[in-house]
Parts: sequence; structure tokens; C-alpha cells
Amino acid sequence: MHALLSSFELLTKGDAQNMSKILVIDDDRSIRESLKLYLTEEGHEAHTASTGTEGLNKFVGTLPDVVILDIRLPDISGFTVLEDLREDDEKVKVIMITAHHDMDTTIKAMKEGAFDYIHKPINIDELDIAIRKALNTIELEKKISGLLMEPSRDFKVGDIIGTGNEMKEVFKTIGVASQNKATILIQGESGTGKELIAKIIHYNTSRDEPYIAVNCSAIVETLLESELFGHEKGSFTGAIARKQGKFELARYGTVFLDEISEMSINLQAKLLRVLQEMEFERVGGKDSVKVNARIIAATNKNLRTMVKEGKFRDDLFYRLNIVSIHIPPLRKRREDIEPLVNYLLNKINRELHKRIAGISDKMMDIFLKYRWPGNIRELENLLVRAAVVSKGQILGREDFPDLMEDANNGESDRAIVRDEPERPMTLDEIEEMHIKKVIRENDKNKGEICEILGISRPTFERKLEKYNITFE
Ligand SMILES: Nc1ncnc2c1ncn2[C@@H]1O[C@H](COP(=O)(O)OP(=O)(O)OP(=O)(O)O)[C@@H](O)[C@H]1O
Ligand SMILES: [Mg+2]
Repeated sequence: MHALLSSFELLTKGDAQNMSKILVIDDDRSIRESLKLYLTEEGHEAHTASTGTEGLNKFVGTLPDVVILDIRLPDISGFTVLEDLREDDEKVKVIMITAHHDMDTTIKAMKEGAFDYIHKPINIDELDIAIRKALNTIELEKKISGLLMEPSRDFKVGDIIGTGNEMKEVFKTIGVASQNKATILIQGESGTGKELIAKIIHYNTSRDEPYIAVNCSAIVETLLESELFGHEKGSFTGAIARKQGKFELARYGTVFLDEISEMSINLQAKLLRVLQEMEFERVGGKDSVKVNARIIAATNKNLRTMVKEGKFRDDLFYRLNIVSIHIPPLRKRREDIEPLVNYLLNKINRELHKRIAGISDKMMDIFLKYRWPGNIRELENLLVRAAVVSKGQILGREDFPDLMEDANNGESDRAIVRDEPERPMTLDEIEEMHIKKVIRENDKNKGEICEILGISRPTFERKLEKYNITFE
């Protein structure tokens, strides 16, 4: 995997944080040239335009963080430009360049949403302070939106339980993936923790940038396209304003494409192009927009099989699968069940203000044998429900009615597995299962059970001991 990573243009943390895009709109050529030189030297990506119209076009193409805008322009007034810019992106920071005798117009500009103003002739220190202020505000706004997105949540690798070798491999991959921005494909059955892992990688890579999740199966194709890529005003009925897509909104953060297997072949082609060129056009637009975000895709289907069946593009599969994470199902890592129960009960106690101490040994036995088709999410849901209804501190059979119902109505053979992979049962196992079933289904005393089973009392006792069955 390392070789693959190094052959890729990887974006490091530092790049993402230091570089800002600044657009200078001024008809005075010497101002444009000297500002461009200065801003570039300061480590920013600088663009320039000499008229209002050119400025608006460049704005759409580059989506700068800060715009330095002259009030007097040859074609349209700086105020109109300011208004258009703010209509496109409400959060854009516009610094107006004003002449001293224009104080009234300056006040007007501030009222109309300019972020700051500087005087002509331009004093570089004054400009520098205004830019820094604007960039700090952007940082702050991002932090606040990050906080709103995930209230008081900080993800660490410690938040994932995994004790077996396969999970240790997963952790190692998370560690490597957190040092770069390569595309990642996470595969695992539903409820195995795909999104949890995506969030941990995001928080370890670009925690101050947005994390944006898109469920590819939840929305119809046309909407998904404009969700991802955004659209221009008037590009289809209902597109009343320009809308930024998720790839743009994610900035230097992460786009999590959940259930990628459900993406239509048509959109798969478009996504492939984005991954190849790291840029795209908004729906109905001509300007290309750069992708700076990391893409993490997830699926609970076997994508390789889907590729073989012609349902998923193979080239897209390989593009997504630069870093590959397979999360094993819970029934293949039973060693995690006990630590998970402890971890989840702790979490539940904290969130629901409960004081559950644990689950009974018998219940743990059942947990260890259960098949867990819904994996960790199912375990978590069962524990939450049990914690809510339980009267005691130890959760027992009566607190898991759904699971016990499965076990009691003969579903146990299906629900509770002994070994993976499945193999024919041994005679001992069949005997054990049959004895348990008769005990469970007949509310009888030992003598009567022996009669049903057709064995003597001492034989019955020996078998109970052999199979470690308790008979109350
Ligand atoms: N290894 C783990 N340790 C602790 N909690 C986990 C672990 N894996 C998953 N969880 C928890 O289990 C729940 C389900 O995880 P998540 O939503 O990430 O699964 P998923 O694979 O995305 O599921 P789906 O396919 O259904 O969308 C979450 O509450 C998550 O925090
Ligand atoms: Mg999920």
C-alpha cells in the first residue's frame, strides 16, 4: 500500500491549512501586479481581474476565501459586484479598496456586507491586518460549523474496540491513512462501524475542515448529481440560485460517500472523472471547480462481485480502492463482544444517566453464540433498549425479550451459530442442541424430561454435566 500512496499526489495537512485563495479586482494594473506578487510571497494563491465582470467570472471559477475589491471599476460599480459576490457565497470575505474622500460609500459598503475596507494608496500593513482578520474569521466559522455538526465529539482510535488481528490491521491502515489524503474504500456488513471509521480518519486528518456524508441510495440520481457537484442558477427548473455541491462544501475536509454500490452507472462515470482529474463542473456550468477534499466511500456489498457482474465500473472500483479497509463482521470476531458490551454500556450509562454494571453470565453466553446479523449496531440497540427498561444493575434474559424470543421459539438454530465457517454438526452437538431444546420447550421436571428423551436419570445427569447445561 505504501508504494501506491507515494505514487499519488498526496496533500499534506500543512498545505491545506496555510493556503488561502485571494482574488484582487482592480482596474489599476500596478495595484493588481504588486498585490499578486505580495500575496503569492505570503503563501496565498492569488488571482486578479481588471473589471467587475471579469472579477465575477473568476470568482465562480476559483471560489476564493477573500476578495479585495475596488469600489470604482470601469464597467460595473464595486457595490454591484459586492452584491453579486454575496449572492453567490454569503460567507465570502470582501475587503473594499476606497479613496479617502469616499467615506460615505465605504460605510455603505460595510452595511451591504463587505468584511472590511482599506484606504488608497494601499498601505501593505493595513492590508495585511485586514486579510489576517478575514482568514481568522473563516477559521472560526469553520470551527463553529464543525462543532454544530458533531456536538462535543472528538474521535480517537481508542473509540473503536477491536482486539483481534484483523481489527489490528484495520487500525494500522487508519494510522497510515490519517497521514495523507488518498481515497479510501471501506467495506463491511451493515452496522460494522464503517462510518465510525470514516469519522475517525477525518478527525485525524483534517478535523477543522467539514466532514460531509452523502448517502448515495437515499436520493434520486438527478438530485444526487446536484447534491454532489452543485448547480448553476437556472440549470433546471427549481434551480433558483447557484448551489455549491458537497465536494465544494467539504473544502479540505472529507466527503463520505455511503452506499456507493447504489450509485447509478451514469453518475459512476462522473465520479470517476472527478477522481481522475480532481476537478468538475457544477450542473449547468462551464467553469471547473477543484476538489480539495478527501473522498471516503463505503459499502456493505461486495464491490468486486458487482464489478464482475457488470453492476459497478471496474475503473471506478480501482480508483476508490487506493486504500482498502475491510471490517470483519462481529460473528467473526467474537473476542470483541465482551469488550464491546463493556464499552457500549459505559457509553449508555453516560448518555442515559444509568448505572448498569454489566450483563449476566448467561446472557453473555448467548451473546457469544448469537449470529449478530446487524453487527455492532444491533448489539448497541439491544443494550440501549435493555438499559432503558431494566430495573436492576445487571442485564439478564428478561431484559432482552427480542433475542430470547428468537432463542425460545426454535429460531435459535438459525440465530445462534456455533462456528464459522458453517460445517455439518457433530453428533455431540446435535445431542446437546436437542437436550437444550427439550428443556426449553417443556416446562417439566427432570423425570418427565428423561422420559421424553428416552434416557435414564443418571445418563441425563451425565449429559448435563458433559454439555455444561444448568437445569433449574
Ligand atoms: N469497533 C467499534 N467500537 C465501538 N463502537 C463501534 C464499533 N464499530 C461500530 N461501533 C458503533 O456501532 C454503531 C454502528 O456503526 P456505524 O454506523 O459506523 O456502522 P456502519 O457500518 O456505517 O453501518 P450501516 O452499514 O448500517 O450504515 C455506531 O454507533 C458506532 O459508534
Ligand atoms: Mg453507515
